[in-house]
Amino acid sequence: MNLFLLILAKGKELSMKIGNLRVNGQRLKLTLEEMGRIGGTPAGGMHRLALTDEDRKARDLFLKWLREINLEVLVDEVGNIFGKRPGKNPDLPPVLTGSHLDTQPQGGRFDGVLGVMGALEVLRTLQEGRVETERSVMIVNWTNEEGTRFTPAMLGSGVWAGVFDRDWAYSRSDILGKRFGDELERIGYRGKKGPKRGPIQAYYEFHIEQGPVLEKMGKTIGLPKGILGIGWYDVLVEGEGNQAGPTPMEGRKDALCAAAEMILKVNELPARMGGEMVATVGEIHNLPNSRNIIPDRVRFTLDVRSWDHKLVSQATKEVRKDFLRISEKRGCRVKMEEIWRIRPTVFGAALVKKVEEVASHLGYSQHRMISGAGHDAAYVSQVSPTAMIFVPSVGGRSHVEVENTRWEDCEAGANVLLHCVLQSATG
Ligand code: GLV
Ligand code: MN
Ligand code: MN
Repeated sequence: MNLFLLILAKGKELSMKIGNLRVNGQRLKLTLEEMGRIGGTPAGGMHRLALTDEDRKARDLFLKWLREINLEVLVDEVGNIFGKRPGKNPDLPPVLTGSHLDTQPQGGRFDGVLGVMGALEVLRTLQEGRVETERSVMIVNWTNEEGTRFTPAMLGSGVWAGVFDRDWAYSRSDILGKRFGDELERIGYRGKKGPKRGPIQAYYEFHIEQGPVLEKMGKTIGLPKGILGIGWYDVLVEGEGNQAGPTPMEGRKDALCAAAEMILKVNELPARMGGEMVATVGEIHNLPNSRNIIPDRVRFTLDVRSWDHKLVSQATKEVRKDFLRISEKRGCRVKMEEIWRIRPTVFGAALVKKVEEVASHLGYSQHRMISGAGHDAAYVSQVSPTAMIFVPSVGGRSHVEVENTRWEDCEAGANVLLHCVLQSATG
């Protein structure tokens, strides 16, 4: 057979495999809307931080929905929730799909939630169509993906993948000193079972893009070949507090002024380093935060990302030097601590290709890209072949209340997920 005929034959084979099964887009929309009421904000966003009462309510609803379609449910020691739909051959490695139900503070309604509700829609579609699969299909809600309440991000998938120790995860505490382990227990999601990590045939994570690329290019499906490497740091600047009135400007040791200069250096860092780097200071605590006291202590976070792992190291070395120079000049002290580092993730080419083929057989336009956002898929990819399916973010906005994705794009992504899952579960 010549190459042309071979390609034609392969294409035909795939379209026969794909068949007519489709998700129910309206049901997916209603499910997202119902889940979106738990922790929904008046401005249309979501505020559902990990292991809060809202997270518990979201988990309770999720479990109810898993039980309605008779899935075998398991909650592991760090609160990751799995639901299994047994295949004809339960001894074969299963196919896993899901994402996270926790959100950013005043975040969006789609980040993470779409991947879990999309996976649920896939399982409902399989159940409704009485589709039998060779392998089991499992859905997952990972705990504390966002890393906003408990650092680092992707704590649940990280423990599952063996990257973080369970007790270390338990010991992570939020800004009020509440421990991850205690909060997990309090909301009733500290399971008894240790992580059962594989083998997994394939992991698919369906997610919004969270950036402007797909919308700008007019494409429906994004195919990330990987995820940027990330470095997270905590910076503490200490100066000297004093009365704002009588203290002369000369000789002040104003920690907030020093921090302000440092933050501008962070903002300049990507242009200085070159490469595809982004750098952000997103969180700042000024103490004692009173209008008539010269600030004596400032804590801020630093988030540096690049596709080039070495560049993150170089950038943090450079910025550390800047911080030292600024703090000396202003009579302050500075400490910079690395709290999390993850190398760039490169997904296996074969599974990304599978997503591409499925999307094109379903008639959706697509684009290969790199994910700037972190995802549980990064840690899962250390255990299992992994790929992601992106859909466009309206205006490229995410982690904010206006975060939005068109319903037809949600449906398109869920159909791609359905057929990727089906192919991996039958192959
Ligand atoms: C996760 O949401 C991240 O990219 O920070
Ligand atoms: Mn997410
Ligand atoms: Mn997020």
